[in-house]
Amino acid sequence: MKRGSKIIAKVLLAGMCLISITLNAQKTNSGKKISSDLFGLFFEDINYSADGGLYAEQIQNRSFEYTPTEQKDWNPYSFWEYTTTGYSFGRISVETNLPIHTNNPHYMVLDVEHIGKEAKFTGVSGVGLKNTGFAGMVIKAAEKYNFSMFVSQLSNQPVSFYVSLQTAKGKVLAETKFTTTSTNWKKYTASLVATEGDENASLVVLATSEGKVALDVVSLFPEKTFKNRPNGLRADLAQLLADMKPGFIRFPGGCLAHGDGLGNMYRWKNTVGPIEERKEQRNIWGYNQTAGLGYFEFFQFCEDIGAKPLPVLPAAVSCQNSGNTWSIGGTGQRVLPMSEMNEYIQEVLDLIEWANGPVTSAWGAKRAAAGHPASFNLQYVGIGNEDKITPEFEQRFKMIFDAVKAKHPEIVVIGTVGPSPDGEDFTKGWKFAKELKVPIVDEHYYTSPEWFISNQHRYDTYNRNSTEVYLGEYASWGNKMKNAIAEAAYMTSLERNGDVVRLASYAPLFAKKDYTQWKTDMVFFDNTKVSLTPNYYVQKMFSANQGDYYFSNIISKDEKDANLAVSCVKDSKSGDIILKMVNFGKETKPFKINLGKFSTITSEAEQTVLTGNADAENTLEKPNSVIPTTTVVKIKKAFDYSAPAMSLTVIRMKDTAIKTK
Ligand code: AHR
Repeated sequence: MKRGSKIIAKVLLAGMCLISITLNAQKTNSGKKISSDLFGLFFEDINYSADGGLYAEQIQNRSFEYTPTEQKDWNPYSFWEYTTTGYSFGRISVETNLPIHTNNPHYMVLDVEHIGKEAKFTGVSGVGLKNTGFAGMVIKAAEKYNFSMFVSQLSNQPVSFYVSLQTAKGKVLAETKFTTTSTNWKKYTASLVATEGDENASLVVLATSEGKVALDVVSLFPEKTFKNRPNGLRADLAQLLADMKPGFIRFPGGCLAHGDGLGNMYRWKNTVGPIEERKEQRNIWGYNQTAGLGYFEFFQFCEDIGAKPLPVLPAAVSCQNSGNTWSIGGTGQRVLPMSEMNEYIQEVLDLIEWANGPVTSAWGAKRAAAGHPASFNLQYVGIGNEDKITPEFEQRFKMIFDAVKAKHPEIVVIGTVGPSPDGEDFTKGWKFAKELKVPIVDEHYYTSPEWFISNQHRYDTYNRNSTEVYLGEYASWGNKMKNAIAEAAYMTSLERNGDVVRLASYAPLFAKKDYTQWKTDMVFFDNTKVSLTPNYYVQKMFSANQGDYYFSNIISKDEKDANLAVSCVKDSKSGDIILKMVNFGKETKPFKINLGKFSTITSEAEQTVLTGNADAENTLEKPNSVIPTTTVVKIKKAFDYSAPAMSLTVIRMKDTAIKTK
């Protein structure tokens, strides 16, 4: 029974006026259940977010799979340098006759003709390859690095190797040796401990005896990845996401999910299993994706930080901007032929079995073999990403949707309604989703801070008994305080409408310095540093302080001032009450807080304030221009709060007694 109806029952017993008292109760005690998953993360491999970013692999082009389709001067040799020491000589060539796996067709052949005698720096003479990683490898003193390489010995005699981490000047930081023992592909591993640190290091692999070998999947990971996972994530970047306590993580995109043409769609099966069996492909954003950070790693990361996984699969159509149609607004949607739809639908169903099925199921067994026998508890599956709503799209979406609903009614499918807050695809997409009774649709918008301020009532009138909303991509254009605070004001409206807006995620998430295709992002980084934008802090202040119950009328403000926004939620798990107050204006503004309805509020609360000049921003060089400050404050049942200009304030307190359910 809902709280409001309990009040009505009491009033009836007392024989008083039903309507006026009920309305009053709604006003003073009004509260409602809202989504407990509301604020999450959007991850897409854009701006070098995965390879060279969150994925901790240090070797670039580790499998010799780079191609000119990614960048015109790229090929399997890119980022590798032929290296000899001590007057040794030989040949390198990229070949495809005997690959480790058909998904990984290229490998490097090293034919060593002569090993000389004098090596200047290392004292080791040899022939081989050097890799400088993603603009230099960051090696930390005394830390461990896990090296691995597949070698197939092609000559009769074994070949010896000397592997080292070196500075740009050739100083050795760590080294190891091994000799081949197999004429089949075999993985050789070593743990390297650096004697000194360096931020521009290289890996050098030298054959030190004559003979011929094939090499592939040359890999170097720091031992200290996030939670020390093998094939893991860069610890500092992963931790700052964990700190946000996101309700969910959407992956792998974005446009990357539906891809640049049919051949470029992100097919999840190519991204699980041993890394040497994964299929690399061109990233829609113009570089290579190894798929080393694949579906297994995404699901594992979600579990590691307590976020629900939200995979988005293509709706059997490619991005409408496929084939370089970006500039003309996109007419390049390609669609899978009907003859391939059964197989594709099975691929979607297989994902659900892979994530949730018992270890006795075919795909559940594969998950278990990868080291995760327990279910990943997949609940949400997105189908399509801001696709053009064409008849071909609708036909294919319906086929996939019907099949998932029939076999897995427990899965909540998320549909798609185009790239804008309104317009043709938005209207058509919503109409189609409602007809089909799709549980949730994915809205996207990137627009001005002013738009966010003036559209805070967008969801107030959305139908509560119909399809719900996942605001899957949004951001105001820029990473200044004014952008972040406009988003904060809007986010209070998402909480207020958390009974129809089920999920929301800012986009894009990461951007690497010098490799950024999309300007407004949440976190900027290079190989060693991180710059958290004001937008990051706003997102964190909301997601780490989300609730599952919303109360109105706790905080009063000047209702005519659109620059002011408020919300009050309760988190049932902790019992905490959380107040959020936003001031997008140029002056300090008063708010009145009345906590009278909460019987056992503690007298101390944690208060976090983010404030700064409207144009203030953080950079890699000056990362701390704007940061939130947290203090413990005394609070009363009723108190006034003055919110600084351009600010977000979060006040979090305990109230263990209140029952909201
Ligand atoms: O977030 C960047 C891009 O914006 C996404 O890939 C796409 O879905 C949207 O157009």
